[in-house]
Amino acid sequence: MTGASRGIGRAIAEQFGRDGHRVVLLSRTASSLESVRDAITEAGGGAEVRVCDVGDGEALAGVIEEVASTLGRLDILVNNAGITRDGLIMRMSDEDFDDVIRVNLRSAFVACRAAARPMMRGKYGRIVNIGSVTGVVGNSGQANYAAAKAGLTGLTKTLAKELGSKGVTANVIAPGFIETDMTDALPQSMKDEAVKSLPARRMGRPEEIAAAASFLASEGAAYVTGQVLVVDGGLTC
Ligand code: NAI
Repeated sequence: MTGASRGIGRAIAEQFGRDGHRVVLLSRTASSLESVRDAITEAGGGAEVRVCDVGDGEALAGVIEEVASTLGRLDILVNNAGITRDGLIMRMSDEDFDDVIRVNLRSAFVACRAAARPMMRGKYGRIVNIGSVTGVVGNSGQANYAAAKAGLTGLTKTLAKELGSKGVTANVIAPGFIETDMTDALPQSMKDEAVKSLPARRMGRPEEIAAAASFLASEGAAYVTGQVLVVDGGLTC
């Protein structure tokens, strides 16, 4: 599970711990991952830490191969790590476009490719990619992020088709406005405005994304594949 140190990733990791999965926490800083691991183990679950920058494809693939071989299987992959580098398209640099594509999209491709082999071997797999409503409807100032998140949908639907006969499902969760460090950075006035137009009249909580991930990662979700599950308090309805 990538980007497990905080926010949505941490909530998913803790939920998976409660669900009885052995969770491998992957992000860039050991100390923050260790605190998530400790929270999971204190709650009676099992977790371990791997430090990796998902922007480094070779390192990421290496970690996934190592985890599959150390644990003897790989049942679930969650690609959650993500960044934003916002700016209107006229002013968006090539670097900001490439950085967001590398961390948000290319990393998921690399991780899925590395995970496909052990999952197919085990004839079981659940791939959950964390997209965004921005990838569904676009958003001013986020051409890079929207392209990456929409790309995740294409990647995921293709995986569903290629891996479906091997017992492997692949789905996207597209969150709306969720309270995390990522949205903390937005101006309060912008958040107030967005919330006013939401049917739910509030921002979402990371635990509400974790609940969706828990379902898609479960054995019971075997017949759900290639889907985009929008969890947005009605933002796009
Ligand atoms: P966050 O900024 O709080 O956490 C992002 C996580 O990704 C952190 O653990 C961070 O260390 C990790 N990460 C970032 N770059 C990395 C890299 N190069 N290598 C390894 N780890 C890296 O973000 P938040 O809000 O928890 O978002 C999680 C996911 O949900 C992201 O993919 C984001 O795009 C998506 N999302 C978030 C929404 C929100 O409203 N918060 C809305 C829609 C989608």
